[in-house]
Amino acid sequence: MKIVLLGAPGAGKGTQAKLICDSFNIPHISTGDMFRSQIKENTLLGIQAKEYIQSGRLVPDTITMSMIKEILNQEKYSDGFLLDGFPRNLYQAKQLELLLGENKECLDKAFLIDVPENIIFDRIAGRRFCNKCGASYHVKFNPSKAGDKCEVCGEALIQRDDDLERIVLDRLKIYNKTVQPVVGYYKDHSILETIQGNAGTDEIFYNICSCLAELYSIHPA
Ligand code: AP5
Repeated sequence: MKIVLLGAPGAGKGTQAKLICDSFNIPHISTGDMFRSQIKENTLLGIQAKEYIQSGRLVPDTITMSMIKEILNQEKYSDGFLLDGFPRNLYQAKQLELLLGENKECLDKAFLIDVPENIIFDRIAGRRFCNKCGASYHVKFNPSKAGDKCEVCGEALIQRDDDLERIVLDRLKIYNKTVQPVVGYYKDHSILETIQGNAGTDEIFYNICSCLAELYSIHPA
């Protein structure tokens, strides 16, 4: 299973990615999570990515592509993966196709989680995340059972630096500009599936699963 999840900031890609990967037992590759982990560890890559992420801009393609190439060359991703937050522009989509093509592989499906902007703001404003284990919550829609602490590891929950309203506006502007060519590209390749994202988590997951069941004749564990 080789799939990608497209969608605006806060559309619910990470939420659905976790459900899909846990249910179908496939590895989750989130470029955003990878960058945040590099920033936390203060690596060279993290230092290079930090100013872009904090200001809501895309990390340059050279940095992102070298990270993705290294990941996809690892054995554990050879049977399948779910990419979340990548590709984000046409260049990345074409590079991914070339990369997979080297092993005579291709993407099976690109899901676009389509959510109206007013809902995006509610989702991002209420998001809380654990900088220790990476778990993500929403104060209203998916609260932690441990209140303002992470229910997995007990760490105090925080807001992401790039979830400030003015930065979210910039992220959305960039998303709206860069995603359309990617959507068109996957439409032309007949692998695009648009999922109505203005719905509850379970309903969205059900709709994605229905599509995956049709594609692979499999069902969630
Ligand atoms: P990244 O981490 O990928 O951020 P994003 O794409 O902006 O997406 P988010 O993580 O904000 O949201 P999401 O869609 O995962 O939503 P979530 O499930 O959390 O990237 C961050 C930055 O890294 C980028 O800005 C860029 O700088 C850089 N970057 C990353 N990839 C890059 C690339 N390929 N190239 C260049 N730069 C790159 O849900 C949001 C909230 O809503 C949560 O609180 C959740 O609980 C709640 N929620 C989810 N679904 C529902 C629902 N159905 N109903 C109610 N609430 C819901």
